Amino acid sequence: MMAGKIHLSILLLLAALLLQALDTAAITDTDDLAGLQALKSIWKNTPPNWEGSDPCGLGWEGISCANTRVISITLATINLSGQLSSDIVKISELQTLDLSYNKEMTGPLPQAIGDMKKLTSLILVGCGFSGPIPPSIGSLQQLVHLSLNSNGFIGGIPRKIGKLSHLYWLDLADNKLTGTIPVSNGTSPGLDMLLKTKHFHFGGNQLSGEIPSRLFNSNMTLIHLLLENNKLTGDIPSTLGLVKALEVVRLDRNSLSGPENLNNLTHVQELFLATNKLTGVLPNLTGMDSLNYVDLSNNSFDATDVPPWFSSLQSLTSLIMEMTQVQGPLPSSMFGLPQLQTVKLRYNRINGTLTIGPNPSSQLQLIDLEDNFIDAFTQQAGLHFQIILVGNLICHEDETQSYCKFPEQSAPMYTTPLENCNPQPCTEDRVFSPSCKCAYPYMGTLFFRAPSFSNYGNSSIFAYLHKNMTASFKSHGLPIDSISLSNPTKNIDNYLLLSLQVFPSGQDHFNRTGISSIGFMLSNQTYKPPKEYGPFYFIANSYPYFIGLQASSKKSSSGIIIGAAAGGSVLVLLLLMAGVYAYRQRKRADTADRRNDPFAAWDSNANSGGVPQLKGAKSFSFEELKRITNNFSELNDVGSGGYGKVYRGTLPHGQLIAIKRAQQGSMQGGLEFKTEIELLSRVHHKNVVSLVGFCFDQGEQMLVYEFIANGTLKDSLSGKSGIRLDWMRRLKIALGAARGIQYLHDLANPPIIHRDIKSNNILLDERLNAKVADFGLSKPMNEPERGHVTTQVKGTMGYLDPEYYMTQQLTEKSDVYSFVVLLLELLTARSPIEKGKYIVREVKQAMDTGKEMYNLEGILDPIVASSPSPRSVERFVDVALRCVHESGESRPHMSEVVKEIENIMEAAGYNPNAESASTSASYEGHSKGSNHPYSNQSLFSYGGNYTSNSKFDST
Ligand SMILES: *[C@@H]1O[C@H](CO)[C@@H](O)[C@H](O)[C@H]1NC(C)=O
Ligand SMILES: *[C@@H]1O[C@H](CO)[C@@H](O)[C@H](O)[C@H]1NC(C)=O
Ligand SMILES: *[C@@H]1O[C@H](CO)[C@@H](O)[C@H](O)[C@H]1NC(C)=O
Repeated sequence: MMAGKIHLSILLLLAALLLQALDTAAITDTDDLAGLQALKSIWKNTPPNWEGSDPCGLGWEGISCANTRVISITLATINLSGQLSSDIVKISELQTLDLSYNKEMTGPLPQAIGDMKKLTSLILVGCGFSGPIPPSIGSLQQLVHLSLNSNGFIGGIPRKIGKLSHLYWLDLADNKLTGTIPVSNGTSPGLDMLLKTKHFHFGGNQLSGEIPSRLFNSNMTLIHLLLENNKLTGDIPSTLGLVKALEVVRLDRNSLSGPENLNNLTHVQELFLATNKLTGVLPNLTGMDSLNYVDLSNNSFDATDVPPWFSSLQSLTSLIMEMTQVQGPLPSSMFGLPQLQTVKLRYNRINGTLTIGPNPSSQLQLIDLEDNFIDAFTQQAGLHFQIILVGNLICHEDETQSYCKFPEQSAPMYTTPLENCNPQPCTEDRVFSPSCKCAYPYMGTLFFRAPSFSNYGNSSIFAYLHKNMTASFKSHGLPIDSISLSNPTKNIDNYLLLSLQVFPSGQDHFNRTGISSIGFMLSNQTYKPPKEYGPFYFIANSYPYFIGLQASSKKSSSGIIIGAAAGGSVLVLLLLMAGVYAYRQRKRADTADRRNDPFAAWDSNANSGGVPQLKGAKSFSFEELKRITNNFSELNDVGSGGYGKVYRGTLPHGQLIAIKRAQQGSMQGGLEFKTEIELLSRVHHKNVVSLVGFCFDQGEQMLVYEFIANGTLKDSLSGKSGIRLDWMRRLKIALGAARGIQYLHDLANPPIIHRDIKSNNILLDERLNAKVADFGLSKPMNEPERGHVTTQVKGTMGYLDPEYYMTQQLTEKSDVYSFVVLLLELLTARSPIEKGKYIVREVKQAMDTGKEMYNLEGILDPIVASSPSPRSVERFVDVALRCVHESGESRPHMSEVVKEIENIMEAAGYNPNAESASTSASYEGHSKGSNHPYSNQSLFSYGGNYTSNSKFDST
């Protein structure tokens, strides 16, 4: 007995001694320890096991060591926050540093980073870093992988990066970099020296100047050249052809001219040159036999006949050439190219007969030839793809054919299917995995910058990616159970977006090591997607689910699991509340800032890009607009309103424009200004007013629109503009406006709710085509909120959807309501609220369906009451009243409204697609000095004050 006790205590003593010995014999190098401890002291949310003084021996999460030295720090997506201080330099053997997807990692990179001589991978994707990229990065001689994309870096690309002779991957995209692309000049280095680099990803910055012809040479091995969405000017250098390995060339959305010659780019598979200033003859792409995807849209080429290469490029999947002045008939053989998927040739001068066949590509999904001059179509039976011929001669004569209508929007849907089970609801934020378990997935978005395909409706291509990705993740030993991909969409950058969910194996959540290693797999490009997908990047959502849940993996009592989960959710709730509070505080601060600096809003939003992503809209300098308007002379002043003044001007190439200039010092509508630019630059439809450009220079906010000759519908209805709107014209205006709104709801990307449909915001061009204007209050319906948005009620009293007013839930049906008020205005020529009477109620009360014109003669505008087609007026009233249904759900969709108005017009013997013959010239007495459309004060948003409708007092 006694002996036994002694024995035990000796054992315990020994064990204690041993533990102590282990502790003192820490294996981690002291400098590395000092470095990590310094970082730990300034970072928040470091892994909880960062305790003790032996990171290597104790296995700190995210740290890997070789013997005593720390060689890798990978902490992707762990909600880390703080700055990267020069303490990192103490960890002098570090080879890999990945802090990606920690949005709260902010501040500049330390200059001392150049001392980390062993660094091979510096990966800081999707963080909040700012300031200039330190030139000392050029001293990191071993660097192979440099990814600084999706941060807020400013300044130029350091020319010393040219000294990184081992660099393979250089991604600086989606920052705020300025200046020119540096090339070597005998004494200083430049990017042309990067002979081993395969990836130049510089898109989404503000790089300017010419693309130096010296940038390219025949010793380079570059395969992906991505310069899209910058401010580059000058000719596309012909030296580009020297780089034989090039596969992807994206130069779109710059101001480039040329090009002289492109057909020595024989290996290029994806060529994006859209939205530049290319002039002269169309590039000759003959011989570019590897070309899959080509987009030359939106340039200023000379009118050119359909080139022979349309039918000879055997690898072509996607031919996108909108607004390029291509003319003549399309050869039927082009549709037989074996891989062809998409042909988009909108807004050209294609004429003659469209013949598809005899054996069109089996992969074809869309032929969009909207607004050309095609007059006949030999249709084959059983075509399996969409053809759009809206706006062609053939549709002016007979618009009943399906190809004369815009297709119902059918977003290509793909979601990784479940493996043999039915979907089940999951508790908390857990998601049902493809392998039929509820768990907290790691989520984010994959952005493919230049896929070679465009048939997103073909799910096999996504199934293939899914299979490839699952196999790759598993072969790298990641703790994953399954992967789900969903929602393929194209964004305004023409990138393919896919939502990614990665599910944990064995438990319902990942630990930090699991998360960071998946993050690293994607941030470091360890995962390589199939070749068709081209270059990609990934942005992760934050992953809050390791908090408080770790206990649950140790003990198995369900009580503890539930308790921990509940604790976790309380914590999440508290965090959320703190977040909301912080957000409110910040918003308050922002608002205060904006009062001092109207353009703070453009810069403050580092993550959303700050400066809006624009498609085709030009940024004007103040000086330019000053010149165009003759120093904003009174003579060019065409109206004014609460927002400021509106001036007419003419651009150098003759286009008439209207310039809406915000009042100086007036911060009103600052945010609306930005919204309007972003939205307008993406919408292109003949019934929507188009934005030509904007100016945010020298403290000014100006919007530049196409000039719409006949002012607002309001002015015409009130007699102010001197245009007589007979019943047929009113129907046509109603139809145009309806089509414009339908376009916003169904075809714009993202879909848009206008939120301020009213007669003041419908403009009439010289042919009295209606154009929807003024997007100051509009809301894009982004993916997560598709369906409805909860938002502060804004709009104009009288037009406001009562359901939206009461629930604050904005849906597209709110626009339907406002549109109907507009229909009633067309019928009665009265303002929605006049002398305290509400037009909707007035019409409903007066109505007697048993009588001719529903007994509404007393309320109808005399021009309408004397319509030659009383039945059409009745049907019009029917449509209107169906749309003012109190419940949004019972109101028809805008596309149905469009159809109904078309039917009414046809029944009354009017062609809904006919151009009005008369132009404004036939109307004399066009009153001078009438308020110009753009002068309306719609940017006065009614943020809660609905008492009066000052906009209708003017008459
Ligand atoms: C286009 O290039 C091909 C091959 O380089 C050449 O044969 C053809 O004549 C060129 N076409 C035109 C219109 O220049
Ligand atoms: C098509 O357009 C071309 C060029 O504008 C013209 O020469 C030709 O006559 C047109 N063909 C038809 C069938 O209208
Ligand atoms: C779908 O994609 C696969 C793989 O790219 C292709 O083989 C198949 O022909 C496509 N199917 C259709 C209908 O386009």
